[in-house]
Amino acid sequence: MTAQKTILRALAGETLPTPPIWMMRQAGRYLPEYRATRAQAGDFLSLCYNPELAAEVTMQPIRRYGFDGAILFADILLVPQALGADVWFVTGEGPRLSTITTQAEFDKLVPADAIHDHLSPIYETVKLLSQELPSETTLIGFAGAPWTVATYMIGGRGTPDQGPAHALKSENRAVFDALMERITDATILYMSAQIDAGAEVVKLFDSWAGSLQGDDFANYSIKPMQRITAALKKKHPNVPIIAFPRGAGARYKGAHAAIGADCIAVDDGVSAEWAAENVQPDGCVQGNLKSTHMVTGGDALVSETRRTVDAFSKGPHIFNLGHGITPDANPENVQLMIDTVRNG
Ligand code: CP3
Repeated sequence: MTAQKTILRALAGETLPTPPIWMMRQAGRYLPEYRATRAQAGDFLSLCYNPELAAEVTMQPIRRYGFDGAILFADILLVPQALGADVWFVTGEGPRLSTITTQAEFDKLVPADAIHDHLSPIYETVKLLSQELPSETTLIGFAGAPWTVATYMIGGRGTPDQGPAHALKSENRAVFDALMERITDATILYMSAQIDAGAEVVKLFDSWAGSLQGDDFANYSIKPMQRITAALKKKHPNVPIIAFPRGAGARYKGAHAAIGADCIAVDDGVSAEWAAENVQPDGCVQGNLKSTHMVTGGDALVSETRRTVDAFSKGPHIFNLGHGITPDANPENVQLMIDTVRNG
């Protein structure tokens, strides 16, 4: 049964006649039904910690579009919160966190193995989803990769160049390294518990990997993700892992082996043709249509969707966007993309 799910087949290395599809941020503000449930929950974090409503918004894009994958509705910033950071969202601006830039601030965090109770509503959401999802739909759990999570914990918000995290890395390496290690340990426990609850695939989002230069890319994007995949594979050898070192550019080549991931998600900073030639020979690739097509639609959406499918057609591929769908996207364009992938 499970082996028939198309996403699991692609992750196992199979080249399918039609690639399975899901979309980053598929449950989100571009959907009126999401906005209604979010209003019912009160705010974004309350939605994340409400298993029934979080499962409901996870299901919404599955019901509307029949995606092949459902991604757990949660956020990468729940791990910092579980570690003891204050996290809140400012409407129209994004996340805010209490910052960690000194040893004293780091010392106030809780140990990695103390995060379980705080995150138990998320595991409950996963359990509900594994009961509710259609039998052909793959349930994907996720977490932020340590570098990306650290950029928020250090900067206290999204920072365009991740300047505060880069500064701490050069000015107080001991605190930076300790924080990276704490996040890595917590992430292993968090993803492992998602798998225990029923996640069939897990994905690591390293959204800010692209700002790591030189050896820093290997040391702070690749290595922590590799430590997470090694620990997860030891405990859950049959659960496939997707890694998304966003902005890696030419460094996507070799990423499967370096990270120990079954699939590499690529953003739209590289062409599908380049990724097919340089990344797909090493295993499944996920991506990489520009998410702006979900706003603009039309002939360009159709031709670029076809181009992406064609480029990746000779190997294992999961169709996805290069990054998350944005709130200004038109839901009809998503349907047009899916119809184009499935019907040519
Ligand atoms: O549908 C899905 O993809 C699953 C849920 C999901 C969310 N965030 C929900 C969300 C996932 C996988 C994430 C990952 C995430 N969160 C990342 C990594 C992926 C990426 O986009 O690069 C990052 C960096 C975050 C942190 C975060 N969460 C930011 C910067 C923001 C604000 C930006 C924005 O879009 O408003 C969020 C909020 C957030 N996470 C929303 C959703 C649906 C919007 C919140 C709302 O409803 O107001």
